[in-house]
Amino acid sequence: MGITKNMALVTTKEMFQKAYAGGYAIGAFNINNMEIIQAITEAASEEKSPVILQVSAGARKYAKHAYLMALAHAAVEDTGVDMALHLDHGADFEICKSCIDGGFTSVMIDGSHHSFEENIALTKKVVEYAHAHGVVVEGELGKLAGVEDDVKVKAADSSYTQPDEVEEFVTRTGVDSLAIAIGTSHGAFKFKPGTKPQLRFDILEEVARRLPNFPIVLHGASSVPQEFVNEINKLGGKLPGAIGVPEEMLRQAATMAVCKINIDSDIRLAMTAGIRRVLVNDPTVFDPRGYLTVGRDEVKKMVKHKIINVLGSSNTL
Ligand code: G3H
Ligand code: 13P
Ligand code: ZN
Repeated sequence: MGITKNMALVTTKEMFQKAYAGGYAIGAFNINNMEIIQAITEAASEEKSPVILQVSAGARKYAKHAYLMALAHAAVEDTGVDMALHLDHGADFEICKSCIDGGFTSVMIDGSHHSFEENIALTKKVVEYAHAHGVVVEGELGKLAGVEDDVKVKAADSSYTQPDEVEEFVTRTGVDSLAIAIGTSHGAFKFKPGTKPQLRFDILEEVARRLPNFPIVLHGASSVPQEFVNEINKLGGKLPGAIGVPEEMLRQAATMAVCKINIDSDIRLAMTAGIRRVLVNDPTVFDPRGYLTVGRDEVKKMVKHKIINVLGSSNTL
């Protein structure tokens, strides 16, 4: 049975409603080049799953808006999958406006580093502009540790979301979804080796109780598969102690209020493991298609695995 061909990028509105009701989450995968976009969207197509392609400021600088836009449209045409094009960690109104004007269907305004009142004012301004243009908005409360572009947030400066702030934030800003901090962090080094990874599910539960049926977003949700880390390290890489969020915890979050799970580091690891394997095993290779094909295949396999076993979004198109 083929899926109905959808020839346009969509917002996350309907995806999130269905995901919330169905107890699954939509994968939001960071895109930086053609191979990554192909890997993600082909995996989503084969699994009959909607997907979110997200673009950071760094990705826009690396690949340029026009290329990413054209590639996202090419992916829609190629696969017909329901996909949203989302700005990841928009730092100010201007970048959000530029993405809204430039054809994105969803933006994140990350005001989490500002005071509560400043976060509200900034988020509200973005929501007003976005909604007037048919675009949805993700806001954030609470601070994650880790690295985003040039901003490195030390674990000591990170802070969990305070559930007693969420209703006021959502009501006053009008955001469509909310990213919260419950112990995940960006990058490939999320927990200290030898310690037990823990997430604050009690905070997630309390947020869900205060915001019934409201889509929650989990950033820093790569699970850092050890087979990639081990292979990279065996083949000359140096990622000692790379640890992610256990997949069972992400699965549990997906059955709760979490409707969007952000994954970037796992893409980087899959691509790097595949490329290292080709280059180390066959030093005569110098055709980029040789190693990029293997890197792309590794990303596609990883994304399929997430959709089936972690997100639970297979066969929902
Ligand atoms: O949240 C961070 C994402 O992994 C994007 O990373 O800013 O290096 O593109 P980036
Ligand atoms: P990871 O570094 O865990 O992949 O998180 C990505 C992310 O949150 C992008 O916004
Ligand atoms: Zn993030």
